Amino acid sequence: MWFLTVFPVLLLAIHLPNIKSEWHGDAGPWVIATEGEVWPRPARNWTFDEFYLLRYSNFQILYDGYCDITLRAIHRYTHIIFAHTRSARKVNKNKPKKNFSNDPAFKGFIKTLNIEGPTSDCKDLLPTLYADEHYVLNINRTGDEATLSSETTWGILRGLETFSQLLTPSGSGAYLKIRRQVIIDGPRLPHRGLLLDTSRHYLPLADIRLTLDAMSYNKLNVLHWHIVDDNSFPYQSETYPNLSKEGAYHSSMVYSIANINDIIQYARLRGIWVIPEFDTPGHTRSWGNAYPELLTTCYNSTGQPNGRLGPIDPTKDSVYSFISTLFTEVVQVFPGSYLHLGGDEVPFSCWASNPDIIKYMDSQKLGRNFAKLEEQYIHKVLDIVSALNTTAIVWQEVFDNGVSLPNSTIVHVWTGSWKTELSKITAAGHPVLLSACWYLDHTAEGGDWKKFYVCDPMDFPGFNTSRLMLGGEACMWGEFVDKNNIHPRIWPRASAAAERLWSEFADDLDTAARRLEEHACRMNRRGIPAQPPNGSGFCVV
Ligand SMILES: *[C@@H]1O[C@H](CO)[C@@H](O)[C@H](O)[C@H]1NC(C)=O
Ligand SMILES: *[C@@H]1O[C@H](CO)[C@@H](O)[C@H](O)[C@H]1NC(C)=O
Ligand SMILES: *[C@@H]1O[C@H](CO)[C@@H](O)[C@H](O)[C@H]1NC(C)=O
Ligand SMILES: *[C@@H]1O[C@H](CO)[C@@H](O)[C@H](O)[C@H]1NC(C)=O
Ligand SMILES: *[C@@H]1O[C@H](CO)[C@@H](O)[C@H](O)[C@H]1NC(C)=O
Ligand SMILES: *[C@@H]1O[C@H](CO)[C@@H](O)[C@H](O)[C@H]1NC(C)=O
Ligand SMILES: *[C@@H]1O[C@H](CO)[C@@H](O)[C@H](O)[C@H]1NC(C)=O
Ligand SMILES: *[C@@H]1O[C@H](CO)[C@@H](O)[C@H](O)[C@H]1NC(C)=O
Ligand SMILES: *[C@@H]1O[C@H](CO)[C@@H](O)[C@H](O)[C@H]1NC(C)=O
Repeated sequence: MWFLTVFPVLLLAIHLPNIKSEWHGDAGPWVIATEGEVWPRPARNWTFDEFYLLRYSNFQILYDGYCDITLRAIHRYTHIIFAHTRSARKVNKNKPKKNFSNDPAFKGFIKTLNIEGPTSDCKDLLPTLYADEHYVLNINRTGDEATLSSETTWGILRGLETFSQLLTPSGSGAYLKIRRQVIIDGPRLPHRGLLLDTSRHYLPLADIRLTLDAMSYNKLNVLHWHIVDDNSFPYQSETYPNLSKEGAYHSSMVYSIANINDIIQYARLRGIWVIPEFDTPGHTRSWGNAYPELLTTCYNSTGQPNGRLGPIDPTKDSVYSFISTLFTEVVQVFPGSYLHLGGDEVPFSCWASNPDIIKYMDSQKLGRNFAKLEEQYIHKVLDIVSALNTTAIVWQEVFDNGVSLPNSTIVHVWTGSWKTELSKITAAGHPVLLSACWYLDHTAEGGDWKKFYVCDPMDFPGFNTSRLMLGGEACMWGEFVDKNNIHPRIWPRASAAAERLWSEFADDLDTAARRLEEHACRMNRRGIPAQPPNGSGFCVV
């Protein structure tokens, strides 16, 4: 009875105003996609009304060099342009052929894109923080060629992406059109990441590779691989094979070191750097399947073990030799000298219940200050990592709990009042990363990319310390996503964060919506199942 009478009333009360404000009575898409706009927006451009045409069969990318990253990128983008040509033919199907020579804006055919970048072999080259990604794209010549120049291979990658995005169906046959323009571009911030969580749900390698493809279409350059956590331990260690043998969901759901090397190589070819996270001392329950002695035994109120295991037990020396051995392997597997140590959400109650830990606290005169115990733990782990010549990244709680950290430790802000956090942490001298605005697992109705887009990572008090703002990451936590739904959950929503991290200036939301409509279709055309960003519409792919 209650259900029948109250529920419909609630339903009306909640949904009526919403339906009204979202009402779109017109035929056709809600948002008209732009044509040939770049996402993320380039730093500077001079765009003219004239245009060139590109005919796939009479077009080549010319590069006189040996860098495998550039050579492979040219191969990929040639294929992307070919696929675009096919799709253009579909778009223009049944339209009459145009005679472009009658169009005064038509400047001729582009037959070559000249790559002017580093030519030497680059087999040892890896992406790093602060790697230069600037490039100049010149489509403003009187002849039949365009030029892409950069000091670095990474700049060439970003410029090829931009060039491919400028092409649009010309309205006639398989010809693509490109406006006459010059673009001078480079990123606003050096660390532009995406977090993938392969502990809550395992992700097949193919889905990680697809994610890396999509990241390169958004000029993101860091894959933060939250590889293990409470639920499962898919990292297949050579030193401690039992960690994944006992801790993975299934024997097929592991990442061998060879698999990881493949991913790192695939990422490198796209200018993406892979930073692993081994979150401790909390978030480690799966470690305890094989090594329960690493974790804290929790006790109930009558002083008996209650059958649960808590965070890592920081009072045992054996824990540190284990971590040292494991991390020595990890930093060799993941080159780049950065390791995310986690440090978030450490529950103190299990430590507080354990009589051995209490005895230790008393012997160390720590009282019942478990933050101090955490501090001891973090210091020892930071020493281990620093002996491995590796820079540590920690989640903000480590700083918030008052753990004293070396200035070089990067603090990653994910919750609370993020502007205040960023000010406090940078004032203390630490580089920062921001994720608080970009939790992709927080979904809302409608075009919820806007809430990600309005977040400006530089907008915090203490501008003078802004050089410590390294960038940020969109986080795709894995509880409710697996290979079936992860791609449309990430894209194009993470594109909003990508633009704020790359571009100095943001567009107004209406303009951004039109550009994102085009960008989502572009990703679809390239095989990324990005979801519709902003309501009714269509893509011809
Ligand atoms: C840069 O590109 C944007 C988007 O196409 C355009 O609106 C703007 O006019 C261009 N700026 C210049 C100076 O050409
Ligand atoms: C296109 O237009 C030009 C100039 O009007 C003319 O010379 C040419 O023959 C036309 N080409 C075709 C294929 O109709
Ligand atoms: C584009 O080319 C024209 C004509 O060659 C030249 O005058 C102009 O300076 C160029 N624009 C840019 C931004 O390089
Ligand atoms: C791994 O676990 C097996 C039992 O599952 C055990 O026999 C072996 O000693 C363990 N290896 C290590 C290195 O702990
Ligand atoms: C504590 O754990 C012991 C052993 O599992 C059990 O017998 C006892 O009832 C528990 N006490 C409480 C208060 O849960
Ligand atoms: C760390 O760097 C120092 C100085 O460059 C070097 O001597 C040492 O061997 C390095 N240690 C490791 C584990 O790479
Ligand atoms: C760490 O940063 C703080 C704040 O900028 C500064 O006062 C301090 O000198 C730095 N410490 C070191 C060792 O560089
Ligand atoms: C789509 O974007 C436009 C422009 O920002 C906005 O007015 C409209 O509310 C959006 N629709 C949805 C469902 O978010
Ligand atoms: C930032 O630097 C400027 C110039 O160096 C100085 O005038 C200003 O007071 C500084 N602001 C803060 C908040 O430190």
